[in-house]
Amino acid sequence: MASRNPGFAEGDAVSGLLGIQDVAAFGHAQIQRGDLGRIDLAAGTPGQWLNVLGMPGMTAYFGLLDVGLAKAGDTVVVSGAAGAVGQTVGQLAKIKGCRTVGIAGGPAKCDWVVKELGFDACIDYKASPQAVREGLKQHAPRGVDVYFDNVGGDILDTVLAKLAPKARIVICGAISQYNNANSAPTAGPRNYLSLLVNRARMEGMVVFDYADRYPQAIAELSGYLKDGRMTSREDVVDGLENFPEALGRLFSGGNFGKLVLRVARK
Ligand SMILES: NC(=O)c1ccc[n+]([C@@H]2O[C@H](COP(=O)([O-])OP(=O)(O)OC[C@H]3O[C@@H](n4cnc5c(N)ncnc54)[C@H](OP(=O)(O)O)[C@@H]3O)[C@@H](O)[C@H]2O)c1
Repeated sequence: MASRNPGFAEGDAVSGLLGIQDVAAFGHAQIQRGDLGRIDLAAGTPGQWLNVLGMPGMTAYFGLLDVGLAKAGDTVVVSGAAGAVGQTVGQLAKIKGCRTVGIAGGPAKCDWVVKELGFDACIDYKASPQAVREGLKQHAPRGVDVYFDNVGGDILDTVLAKLAPKARIVICGAISQYNNANSAPTAGPRNYLSLLVNRARMEGMVVFDYADRYPQAIAELSGYLKDGRMTSREDVVDGLENFPEALGRLFSGGNFGKLVLRVARK
C-alpha cells in the first residue's frame, strides 16, 4: 500500500508473516529479519506463493532432499499427501525418480493424488483400520526408504513397521497429536525398534533453518510449475470473519490442498 523503504514500492506484491488481518505495518527490523519480502508474480500466482513457492513448498523441498536424502529408485511415502506440504513432497519425489506412495483421507483426495499429481499409489487411511498396513504391503513391497511424516500417531507406527534398511524418516509434523485432549502428551512411536533393526534414522526439521537457500528451491520449483511437471492446489476460503472455521478444517481434513484465507480481492 505504501513504503518509505527503498526496497519496496507502492503496488509491489509481498509475502510475509502478516497475521490474520487485512492491513499490517512492518518496521525495518522485521523486514531485515525476513518477515516480509517481495514476490515475483511472473514466477507464480499469489496462491502458489503461499503454497509450492512458499513455506509449505520450502518444507517439502528441504525435508525431502536435505533431510530425507531421497534419490532415484527410493520408495517415498508421504502422509497428508493431498495437503500443502504433502502435494509438493510427492510431486518432487516423482520428478526425482522415486516410487511415491501417498496417505490421505478419503477416495476423492486419493484419486486426485494419483490421477492429477502422478503419485504411483495413494492409501486412504480412513477406509479401514488396516488400510495403511495393507496398503504398504501392496504398494511398498520392498519397504519404505523415506517416510515424510506430517501426521504422527498410529500412521507413523504403521509405517515404522515397514521400513527398508537405512530408511530415513523426516519428522515434519504430527497433526494427529496437536489437539490431544487435556493437553495429553504427544504419543511417541511404539515401533521405534524398527529403527535399530533397519539401521534407520528419524530426524526433525524446521523449514526456517533453510531460509538462506529458499531462492534455490523457488527457482527449481517455479521451473516445474512453468513446464507443467508440477501443479499446485489451493483451497480458498473468502472473508476474514471465516478464519476460525477455516482453521478447524486442517484438523478435520476439510481442506483439499493448501488452505488459504482470502481477505481482499485485488
Ligand atoms: N517442520 C516444519 O518446518 C513444518 C512446516 C510447515 C508445516 N509443517 C507441518 O506439516 C504438516 C502438514 O501441514 P500443511 O500445512 O501441509 O497442512 P495440510 O496437509 O494442508 O492440512 C492438514 C491435513 O492433515 C490431515 N490430518 C488432520 N488430522 C489428521 C489425523 N488425525 N490423522 C491423519 N491426517 C490428519 C488432513 O488431511 P486428510 O484429509 O488426508 O486426513 C488435513 O487436510 C503439519 O503437521 C504441519 O504442522 C511443518
